[in-house]
Amino acid sequence: MPETAEDRTDHDEDPFRREVVSFTRRGGRLTERQQDAWDDVAHRFVVDVPRGRTSTSVADGFTIDPAELFGRDAPLVLEIGSGRGESLVHAARLDPDTDFLGLEVYVPGVAQTLVQLRHEGVENVRLAVVDAVPALTRMLPAESVDEVRVWFPDPWHKKRHHKRRLVTDEVVPLVHRVLKPGGVWRLATDWQDYADQMLEVVGRAEGFTTSGDWAERFEGRPITKFEAKGIAKGRTIRDVSALRMTP
Ligand SMILES: C[S@@+](CC[C@H](N)C(=O)[O-])C[C@H]1O[C@@H](n2cnc3c(N)ncnc32)[C@H](O)[C@@H]1O
Repeated sequence: MPETAEDRTDHDEDPFRREVVSFTRRGGRLTERQQDAWDDVAHRFVVDVPRGRTSTSVADGFTIDPAELFGRDAPLVLEIGSGRGESLVHAARLDPDTDFLGLEVYVPGVAQTLVQLRHEGVENVRLAVVDAVPALTRMLPAESVDEVRVWFPDPWHKKRHHKRRLVTDEVVPLVHRVLKPGGVWRLATDWQDYADQMLEVVGRAEGFTTSGDWAERFEGRPITKFEAKGIAKGRTIRDVSALRMTP
């Protein structure tokens, strides 16, 4: 995935500037159906995030209150990089007593999630078009999330791009911050080299316990486009999970 001019300049002057981000795609046109869903229901499902310098940043001082956002107190599952919302909407439909928040920088993906939410009449989902790093650092309250899910993060398979991967030692304290004690961090990838990295990262993650081995496939995840693509290419799908320890 080539670095774009926007990537290089986008974060200048942001007080929370990140030198390297885990994504490139933020724009893209919406289909007619996506635009229609956006116009119709975005105000109900998409968090209005005040920005810093960039379109995926979070203004200093902005936080969300999950109870206010969902209009109730319920367990909260956070999906980072929810893509087109396949897993998010599926999980929310099967578990109406839990709330689901998806963080996604790719606007057409969020719009497609709205298409699906509207079509299926699912209500217990909210979406934020935001980079997960500032969201985990500042937007979400500490110890507010019961489960963090990261399904098929961009693999950044070239070695010189590994620094762009989302699941690194640097993200551990951020996930730890938002998870409640006893909360679960679930990950999956079809890219063995990234799976090995995930296992290493959670294996040495301070404040987490893990089996040290691959987890069972999480049965609450449907086979999404990315998982199907990995299977079709003969790759092994790896699940990894870790438990946030009680202090
Ligand atoms: C390979 S796709 C997988 C999508 C989805 N999880 C699935 O399994 O179908 C990875 C997604 O993560 C998003 N992403 C990458 N870095 C992100 C970040 N820092 N914050 C939020 N989303 C991010 C990308 O835009 C992309 O949609």
